[in-house]
Amino acid sequence: MPPCSSRRSAVGLPGVLCQITWSTAAGELVAIEPRSDELARHAATLAAAYNDPHNAPLLGHTDDVDDDDVIAHYEDVAAAGGRNFLVFLDGALVADADLRKVGGGAAEFAFLVASPAAQGKGLGTRIATMIHAFGFARLGLDRIYASIIPDNTASRRVFEKLGYHEDASPVARAYADEPGDITMAIDRTTFERMHAQAMAEIGIAVR
Ligand SMILES: CC(C)(COP(=O)(O)OP(=O)(O)OC[C@H]1O[C@@H](n2cnc3c(N)ncnc32)[C@H](O)[C@@H]1OP(=O)(O)O)[C@@H](O)C(=O)NCCC(=O)NCCS
Repeated sequence: MPPCSSRRSAVGLPGVLCQITWSTAAGELVAIEPRSDELARHAATLAAAYNDPHNAPLLGHTDDVDDDDVIAHYEDVAAAGGRNFLVFLDGALVADADLRKVGGGAAEFAFLVASPAAQGKGLGTRIATMIHAFGFARLGLDRIYASIIPDNTASRRVFEKLGYHEDASPVARAYADEPGDITMAIDRTTFERMHAQAMAEIGIAVR
């Protein structure tokens, strides 16, 4: 099996699932690319999180989703070469995150801390750091984009803490999920400079 640390081999290849780990002051964070049985086991929890009345408008969701929709979404992201992660804190599912629209050395990042009660405590920033470490150091991405609803202050703040800047160039706008979204971007050099210590602590391996 090719290692997920190989830049070419990991992207889009079925069966090469990776795991990202980080021991933090908040606890042990583990992000896994789920097998289909693992995704099925957690799909109802994710659907409830996507449908949560606080989360849904921030995600741009107008209709409720069910387990099958969640699984179909993960499959669509993976089929297009993206990388989906379930994220656990001390063994409990707390979030999901993905790199989508992967191509040409770039990708879009999206994430969710499932429970509103768990938001605003630094988890989203740590999880975003883990997935960006994977994208830049292991997939060899040069740039990652984000599409944000303007009044999503928490999300925008996380991206600022990561080192993102607002980017309204035509290339960045191609990553906008909705015409009214703000687009932001970060390049590999900026991320590696700002998060060198985290990158040294974060472990990435084939599952
Ligand atoms: C966006 C999200 C993933 C961020 O995760 P999180 O765990 O809440 O993020 P963190 O706690 O690491 O950081 C949030 C930052 O926003 C700030 N913040 C949160 N809500 C805020 C508000 N209403 N006004 C001002 N700042 C706010 C927090 O103070 C924190 O900044 P600080 O560290 O400088 O104090 C999470 O809030 C979430 O899942 N939201 C719903 C889904 C969503 O919006 N996904 C992103 C789509 S682009």
